[in-house]
Amino acid sequence: MKSLVILISGRGSNMQALLQANLQAERITVVSNNANASGLEIARQHGIETIVLDHRAFPDRQSFDAALAEKIDACRPKLIALAGFMRILSDRFVQRYQGRLMNIHPSLLPAFPGLGTHARALQEGIKIHGCTVHFVTAQLDHGPIVIQAAIPVAADDTEETLAARVLEQEHRIYPQAVRWFMDDRIRLIGNQIEVLGSSVSGAALYSPGLAE
Ligand code: GRF
Repeated sequence: MKSLVILISGRGSNMQALLQANLQAERITVVSNNANASGLEIARQHGIETIVLDHRAFPDRQSFDAALAEKIDACRPKLIALAGFMRILSDRFVQRYQGRLMNIHPSLLPAFPGLGTHARALQEGIKIHGCTVHFVTAQLDHGPIVIQAAIPVAADDTEETLAARVLEQEHRIYPQAVRWFMDDRIRLIGNQIEVLGSSVSGAALYSPGLAE
């Protein structure tokens, strides 16, 4: 069975993009570490099974991760997609799901790992910004890159306007990456991704959108 688990902590707009993408998944389960995540309500509206596992109920990261792994394994997922899941995962957890744990990050990795990517991008004065879907490895916001989308930074961009335009791209590339994976089209060779049947390697989307 091609089962998919999506992990969220908040808004859930990337999760929503995945739910609306008609993926070849026979079962989708959304797990949140935050009972108040607004994404949970969106999942329920889509008739998707939801699970809440509050990390605050556990004494440490290891025990939360172990409980999370138990919930995930019960779903027998082909892929686990992190979609705004705001918890650092232990090495052990990452190891357990190596090669089938994906994340979406709001920058063109390896630039700007971590939080506050848009503010940092503006501060650095970069001209091209974007987002990345990658496999998760022990190093935070690293790991083999599946797909990236780039957008130009406008002179009058604020953190909010930039975040909004990047988010639009996130909603394009995450479903694409997950679809490739669910359709067995991603081959991992070392740190490189090959997308079977695609003329572009890993694939990149560029969205020019600024007038002169
Ligand atoms: C997104 O920007 C994603 O790239 C990052 O966290 C944010 C989550 O937003 N990892 P949402 O919950 O998917 O709306």
